[in-house]
Amino acid sequence: MEKLVIEGGFPLKGEVKVSGSKNAALPILAAMLLTDEPCVIRNVPKLRDTSTMLKLLRSLGKTVDVIDDKVTILTKGEINYIADYKLVSTMRGSFCVLGPLLGKLKKAKVSLPGGCVIGVRPVDLHLKGIKALGAKLEVDGGYVLATTKGLKGAHIYLGGVFGSSVLATANVMMAAVLAEGETIIESAACEPEIEDLTNCLIAMGAKIEGKGTPRIRITGVKSLHGVSYEIIHDRIEAGTYILLAAMTRSNITIVNGCYQHLMALTDVLEQAGVNVISDGNNVKVKVKGGLQPVSVNTYPYPGFPTDLQAQFMALMAVTPGVSIITDKVYPDRFIHIAELNRMGANIRREGMCSIVQGIPVLKGAPVMASDLRASAALVIAGLAAKGKTEIHRIYHLERGYENLDQKLSMLGAKIRREKE
Ligand code: UD1
Repeated sequence: MEKLVIEGGFPLKGEVKVSGSKNAALPILAAMLLTDEPCVIRNVPKLRDTSTMLKLLRSLGKTVDVIDDKVTILTKGEINYIADYKLVSTMRGSFCVLGPLLGKLKKAKVSLPGGCVIGVRPVDLHLKGIKALGAKLEVDGGYVLATTKGLKGAHIYLGGVFGSSVLATANVMMAAVLAEGETIIESAACEPEIEDLTNCLIAMGAKIEGKGTPRIRITGVKSLHGVSYEIIHDRIEAGTYILLAAMTRSNITIVNGCYQHLMALTDVLEQAGVNVISDGNNVKVKVKGGLQPVSVNTYPYPGFPTDLQAQFMALMAVTPGVSIITDKVYPDRFIHIAELNRMGANIRREGMCSIVQGIPVLKGAPVMASDLRASAALVIAGLAAKGKTEIHRIYHLERGYENLDQKLSMLGAKIRREKE
């Protein structure tokens, strides 16, 4: 096991390049199960989550070849319909092989993903959508077994208590592209990663209208063909670097900065006194004078992303005044509060809100990473804090940030890995 050791408290400078989007790569790689023809996917980030998805594709019978960010996927034999517990339980994103396996093979047995530290994370919406397409579902021994004689298009409302679901939309769309007739998904997730999946499916021959909107209309086709497709860049990685630049008052150029996908963040930052400027591909951050506290609620896209909530809280922790941060998507996603408080922050939780009383500066401390985005918040807090911060359990970071410590070192950060 390794830890990250950071000497913080000074500004960074230079250029940092944002990698391919993890949350677009996962369903797009799962979509490769919908065809027997060769596929090439580019801009795939090298992360533990994408490598788990590639392992899962191999375990299902695909041949996968990886060169840098290019993944080639071939079918050389039978495709297996069982997605094993060992792989699905380590990463929730693997559950989205259910839709494509069922659509292509007419049966799928996929382990339930289970909960995680940020909340219970049910899959009822996935199952509701798949059932509406005419599949027979059984849940037994921790697996979902879905079978069908042939899926049929349906009119499906996919909104839940916490709004739309990203991976349920992906799963149902991927099942519906090969179903007979028309499917309409109402309250579909509008995240750019779902739009990217839609573009990839269209490039494979799927008929889909309404991409990026809450109403997606799919006309089933008999089969999909191979594809050569380039994944979008990771808006959450870009947003994390934007927040890092604001917090450390750094002059950083964020290449592939995903500006158009980060309006909720840039708008809130503008109110806080942080100017985010884009010239198309590159993003720069300018802070004039002191920052103002701003309260934030997370919502499904285009609202403020829950995946940037922890990092935004780190910024508000060093912004004098009071801000209230509410997570409407994952009301329990607040484990980072205790760790930020170890660094001197003054944050308390009340129900699904956290009340942040900003202080002038954080102080380095030993802290524990609890989940992917909380880990990113601790890294940017550590880079802004005076003194030494040690972050334990950094394996979470490798799930979602490609070469984070190398990228930060290139910006002049004093950051190193050490054995525990
Ligand atoms: C995806 C992202 C994750 C992000 C999340 C919300 C991937 C691989 N992961 O996760 O990084 O934090 O979107 O933007 O893309 N829900 C239900 N029933 C369901 C499914 C979800 O009630 O069947 C609830 C969840 O508990 C949560 C909300 O809906 O409160 C949104 O979750 P969802 O969009 O499904 O998250 P994921 O797709 O798992």
